[in-house]
Amino acid sequence: MSARCEREAGADVRKADVDDGGTAMRRWIQLTGVAVVLAGTLVVVTRSKGTAGNGARRVFWSAFAGVPSGRLGTVGARVLAKRSSYFAAMAEELALQPEDDLLDVGCGAAGLLAQHASQVRFVAGLDLSEIQLRMARQNLADRIAAGTGEIVQGDATVLPWDDGRFSVVASLDCVKFLRDPAQALREMYRVLRPGGRVVLGLGKRVKNEAESSTVDVWGEWQWSDADARRLMDEAGFVDVVVSFLHAGPKEQLVRGTRPGAGQGLA
Ligand SMILES: C[S@@+](CC[C@H](N)C(=O)[O-])C[C@H]1O[C@@H](n2cnc3c(N)ncnc32)[C@H](O)[C@@H]1O
Repeated sequence: MSARCEREAGADVRKADVDDGGTAMRRWIQLTGVAVVLAGTLVVVTRSKGTAGNGARRVFWSAFAGVPSGRLGTVGARVLAKRSSYFAAMAEELALQPEDDLLDVGCGAAGLLAQHASQVRFVAGLDLSEIQLRMARQNLADRIAAGTGEIVQGDATVLPWDDGRFSVVASLDCVKFLRDPAQALREMYRVLRPGGRVVLGLGKRVKNEAESSTVDVWGEWQWSDADARRLMDEAGFVDVVVSFLHAGPKEQLVRGTRPGAGQGLA
């Protein structure tokens, strides 16, 4: 190589280094900016008081975790997707069998379905959030391609499946965000076949009955054990058990069964 070519090649390498450095710096500034804005929003929201404060908290929490949307939702969905210990604990409660057809209502990024339902016959996830649905379709791409899985956009209170389509229904931290939790439970009952089982991670459990069946400052329903059981009874489930999800001491868990043919609700 001539001395001139060597000089030019050296200059190209240095320019590439400077470009890489510039890109890295811009990316660092952007990330720091997003982190500062998120931290600031969190501080303002958690410290705000009164009705307006509750409103701010609910708007923030709804976009972050309730139905993830916008930039907050992108961060929220990534954080939620990392809760592997919750998915593992749910899978244990579900006691999945190879012949099961499993529905996850409010499936989020399909962490539970992708990580713990490889052995079941069919998996379906339903969610409202575009961000979550995108992640879910990526996480479940193999099963969707194989025709043994689907991810559907929809509302938990109007499930788009025929009666008795599934043998198991799961839902982790979704029911507490719904406007009409009782209607969602009726829908879960409807799409379960007789003898099918449901397992729900409901969220915060309250001991004070006066606070039970109310929506808290973050916009989440909260139930006492007695009211959680009543919700399940009223939807028609039998063999109802109220306990905790073993991933988090505060996560209330309910399980129940749709009665077999000839028992319970039609
Ligand atoms: C806290 S996230 C939990 C997601 C997932 N189950 C997990 O544990 O990672 C609540 C999820 O419920 C979904 N969701 C909220 N309201 C819904 C509705 N009416 N119908 C369907 N999904 C809903 C949200 O979009 C969100 O993905």
